Amino acid sequence: MGKKVAVFRKEHFNAAHRLHNPDWSDEKNQSVFGLCNNPNYHGHNYELVVQVTGEPDPATGYVVDMKILSELVQEEVLNRFDHKNLNLDTAAFAKLNPTAENIAMVIYDLLRARLDEKLDLKIRLYETERNFVEYPA
Ligand code: NI
Repeated sequence: MGKKVAVFRKEHFNAAHRLHNPDWSDEKNQSVFGLCNNPNYHGHNYELVVQVTGEPDPATGYVVDMKILSELVQEEVLNRFDHKNLNLDTAAFAKLNPTAENIAMVIYDLLRARLDEKLDLKIRLYETERNFVEYPA
């Protein structure tokens, strides 16, 4: 079995969201989600790190062509979410609470569907400088 290398592509997008569970009272939503429950939404500067792991192709020396990876992220993630209200403007979060966890899982599924199955994929998403998530864990 060959040696695997991880390659990373960093991207950035801005988006608004509101965390809210419609099954709960306003008080409970406020107490669980705090500032992220603001009824009029608020924005985050999301930092996205896409990690692709695999054996470098013997012909190119690449795990994945970074130009193709960056176009893929542009197409599937940035075009869909950048400068959008995640709750109101995107089908993915019409019914799904747009937490960093859920956003990372949605991004994973979008990219996974377009990547060679022999490559491993991991998503790291920063909602703030100090708060970030990884999927798969
Ligand atoms: Ni928030």
